[in-house]
Amino acid sequence: MKTMLITGAAHGLGAAIARAADSDGYRVGVLDLVAEECEALAGSLSAGVPLCADVRDPHSVEAALDALGDAPDVLVNNAGILRTGPLIDHAVEDFALVMQVNLNGVFVVAQSAARRMRDAGGGVIINMSSINGIHPSPNCGAYVAAKAGVIGLTQQMSIEWGEYGIRANAVAPGFIDAGMSAPFYENESVRNNRGNAVPLGRLGVAEDVAQCVLFLASDAAAYVSGQTIAVDGGVINSVLRQLPRE
Ligand SMILES: NC(=O)c1ccc[n+]([C@@H]2O[C@H](COP(=O)([O-])OP(=O)(O)OC[C@H]3O[C@@H](n4cnc5c(N)ncnc54)[C@H](O)[C@@H]3O)[C@@H](O)[C@H]2O)c1
Repeated sequence: MKTMLITGAAHGLGAAIARAADSDGYRVGVLDLVAEECEALAGSLSAGVPLCADVRDPHSVEAALDALGDAPDVLVNNAGILRTGPLIDHAVEDFALVMQVNLNGVFVVAQSAARRMRDAGGGVIINMSSINGIHPSPNCGAYVAAKAGVIGLTQQMSIEWGEYGIRANAVAPGFIDAGMSAPFYENESVRNNRGNAVPLGRLGVAEDVAQCVLFLASDAAAYVSGQTIAVDGGVINSVLRQLPRE
């Protein structure tokens, strides 16, 4: 039985990935901040392991990986936060917090897991970026910078850790009606405007992201490394669709 360790797994996209991995036969390490929430989700899976840790804290991450036992076959660096506001007024503390969770946290967990994967002969790392890591968005300055950093860090992992048998890729979700974006999409006009802006004509759901993660984790992606796959219904390529020639 393969093991998938998922950070930020207690809610939103992480929980959807955990359920999909469970259905796919993985033993799932459920890493998140609140022990009771990790236990609740892990307990609902066939082989879930609750792991309470903060991705910013290398000691708690090491302890979580020790508790998991053998090296994870797959690590999904999914934990993330969003702080919005105009860059001109962005509090320095908020900027640092977003970078610590969304970028430093990816490095901390990946390094700890990669050392174990190297000793075990290989593994797969999937880092959660965002279409905001590819294109900036108003009022999301720190988030954009961190998610762009995740893409660069993923490429770096792929060239440095390939020799250890480790593949590293990033996933860049678009307009997903789940997790941190769910409250935003409760507004019907926002839902309609954004859904209509997507070439595939709808908002994404958490399962769309989870299935891409399972593909990248699988041997079907055995020769894919250093890539960022947008799960966005085509929206990042649609700027000129908004500004037709005629
Ligand atoms: N939902 C979207 O529309 C969307 C779009 C693009 C990218 N993403 C990315 O997907 C990932 C999951 O987001 P979501 O929408 O499910 O959000 P969410 O808020 O529902 O879930 C994030 C999870 O991360 C956990 N977390 C936060 N800080 C942590 C820390 N320091 N240590 C450990 N866990 C921590 C939270 O407790 C939570 O369970 C994030 O990286 C986010 O940036 C989401």
